[in-house]
Amino acid sequence: MATVRPAEQGDLPGILDTDRQSGRIPLATAALAAALADPNRLVVVAESGGEVVGWGKTHYWDCPDGPAPAGHYLGGVTVRPSQRRQRVGAALTAARLHWIWDRTPDAWYVVNAVNTASIGMHSAWGFVEVARAGQFHTTTFDGGTGLLLRAHRPGRGLAQEPAFRRRAL
Ligand SMILES: CC(C)(COP(=O)(O)OP(=O)(O)OC[C@H]1O[C@@H](n2cnc3c(N)ncnc32)[C@H](O)[C@@H]1OP(=O)(O)O)[C@@H](O)C(=O)NCCC(=O)NCCS
Repeated sequence: MATVRPAEQGDLPGILDTDRQSGRIPLATAALAAALADPNRLVVVAESGGEVVGWGKTHYWDCPDGPAPAGHYLGGVTVRPSQRRQRVGAALTAARLHWIWDRTPDAWYVVNAVNTASIGMHSAWGFVEVARAGQFHTTTFDGGTGLLLRAHRPGRGLAQEPAFRRRAL
């Protein structure tokens, strides 16, 4: 069972190792430390057996870029390959979405158009495509095309848990 909590400085090695195991280029330690210290951002980790098994962050853009508005964006959720399909990514995403929706009605997310795992996971929160392009803000996409998606905060009385949530972590 994994527990999701805000990340701390001591989690940085586990975060970097998660990225390496996933074949992702790890963020610079200084950039991660800055994200941890930024009150406009949330960095979360999923911990299991004392080990970081996944992590995710948000990013706040204070100005628009074409169709991509200013606002809070989900960013870079990654789960160790050995821990996938156990709802860890969903738990990391739920925590970040609730944090964003506590601050603003719209959550934004950009993703490579061919990343079916990420698109499939995020679809449970009702993300809808707003635009597609080769770049949104500073994010570019291998293969050339990315999607910009938006999920609106659920109204009062509507479920805030993902539609696929059938079992506990
Ligand atoms: C995307 C990622 C974070 C998903 O993490 P995860 O913990 O395996 O996902 P979950 O177990 O929470 O999946 C929840 C649901 O999402 C969908 N999903 C997850 N992985 C999927 C895949 N590979 N293919 C299709 N659907 C998938 C399924 O509906 C799944 O529910 P199910 O297992 O009952 O079918 C993980 O695959 C990953 O780290 N990928 C590499 C990094 C990356 O691409 N991050 C996204 C950048 S935008």
